[in-house]
Amino acid sequence: MTDISRIRRPELKDKVMSADEAALLFKNKMIVGSSGFTKAGDSKVVLKALAARAKQEELKVTLITGASLGHGTDAALTEAGALSKRMPFQVDRVLRDHINKGDVLFQDQHLSETAELVHGYIGEIDMAVIEVTYIEEDGSIVPTTSVGNSVTFAKLAKKVILEINTAISPDIYGIHDIFLPENYPLRNSIPIISPDVRVGRKSIPLDPEKIAGIVFTSITDAPADIAAPDKKTIAIAEHLIHFFENEVKAGRLTDRLLPLQAGIGKVANAVLLGLGNGNFHDLTMYSEVLQDSTFDLFDTGKLRFASASSITVSAECYNRVFNNLEKYRDKMVLRPQNISNAAGIIRRLGIIAINTAIEFDIYGNVNSTHIAGTHIMNGIGGSGDFARNSYLSIFVTQAASKEDKISHLLPMVSHVDHNEHDVDVLVTDFGLADLRGLAPRERALVIINNCAHPDYREELLSYFNRACELRQGQTPHILEEAFSWHTRLRETGTMKPAAKAEAKAPKAEAEVCA
Ligand code: COA
Repeated sequence: MTDISRIRRPELKDKVMSADEAALLFKNKMIVGSSGFTKAGDSKVVLKALAARAKQEELKVTLITGASLGHGTDAALTEAGALSKRMPFQVDRVLRDHINKGDVLFQDQHLSETAELVHGYIGEIDMAVIEVTYIEEDGSIVPTTSVGNSVTFAKLAKKVILEINTAISPDIYGIHDIFLPENYPLRNSIPIISPDVRVGRKSIPLDPEKIAGIVFTSITDAPADIAAPDKKTIAIAEHLIHFFENEVKAGRLTDRLLPLQAGIGKVANAVLLGLGNGNFHDLTMYSEVLQDSTFDLFDTGKLRFASASSITVSAECYNRVFNNLEKYRDKMVLRPQNISNAAGIIRRLGIIAINTAIEFDIYGNVNSTHIAGTHIMNGIGGSGDFARNSYLSIFVTQAASKEDKISHLLPMVSHVDHNEHDVDVLVTDFGLADLRGLAPRERALVIINNCAHPDYREELLSYFNRACELRQGQTPHILEEAFSWHTRLRETGTMKPAAKAEAKAPKAEAEVCA
């Protein structure tokens, strides 16, 4: 596992230590910045060793990463009581539970903004932990499968622990594009005028004096769980592809579309796979994560270039990519997340952004983060960066879930991440609502008629009609009733009104008996 040739600056060879020794470098109440973005390029052993140490003694840190970590690292840190605050994103069940109980503080942040925030608002970064492929002669570091916030951490942290991951070949050199914007008020424009433009260095500059320890590991990234497309995700993908085809016919898009951003998960995966079967070609991506479907589209020749901040793929795809890096290296680039998600670039390139909602309402406000208004799921991630600034901001979700007891289209969302002004198109398995150019009252009818699950359509229309009659206003609501679907779910286990829920129950029973 130890491959000393990966330390190309000779005097740094003395800094090699075990993960347990590196864990001793942390102090209580430190602010720690760590690599890792959607489970890619994260610390495999040092943060776990920190968790082990925190089980024995009082050791709590604020942990800032790129995005989510893999290998149960967040769970291990949480169970050890090692986290006082966490930001900017997480997907871990154990951590989520502790955040929702109030044991761990969580700042849910736009992924593009963390790099700005660590410039002073939350105190200095005491220690950074960064996974790298190797260290260059001048101390610069070559990242692995993600860039995330590592450039900012390397610049600002007082001390840095490097994890050299020998599972990643040094041949990865060249796929990263490291660009660090100037500080305000001297910031210049970021000269990315198309997804395939490279504007920075191939490695991250790092003052070798700051390197406190070097740890070797050979653990690969935790694989992405890719669920195969199902009936609902295929239906959503078909609606969306039909919409793109019509946009081409109307002359608003060409069959090259515009650079695509796709959130992680099975719906985005199904949509991208669907694009592979359509008449589109020379596609590009300007996204934050490259997933299996990205490489499938490369293989079918439909995708020309992809830019992101990480590669998060299944085990099969991981081997396909890293055993054939020569085939893909000129087709992709990994950037820092404040560049992959930069508002100005997203607006300039005219991105088509496809993200997933937990729920949306009749006027097109979207909740991506909170269950029933109070309990965090994962976080806003990059969805806000893209939704606010894209040419086309699309949100997808199933119309109903849990045996259709939960409608994902509601009178009013219980938490707003993306407001009606940021949302152009909504898609469920029942249809698509194109909201461009529509006022709230027009939006409500299009959304309800096209996207609602049939079991809830009548109720939603009734709510909207009564709100229009009773309250008037630009955005009619009945405040006494707006959250009644959420409270009904809490009280009765279903969002369906009593009569409908009862009417359905005996039928289901009869079917079972038959
Ligand atoms: N009460 C209780 N549960 C509810 C609910 C409610 N009012 N509304 C939705 N849910 C549940 C669903 O039943 C489902 O539960 P399950 O996981 O047990 O099946 C869950 O919430 C949502 O799951 P699903 O609809 O399958 O969505 P998903 O797994 O594709 O994830 C997000 C959706 C929004 C959580 C996810 O995409 C996310 O975290 N997005 C924010 C980050 C982001 O968009 N990043 C962008 C680029 S990567």
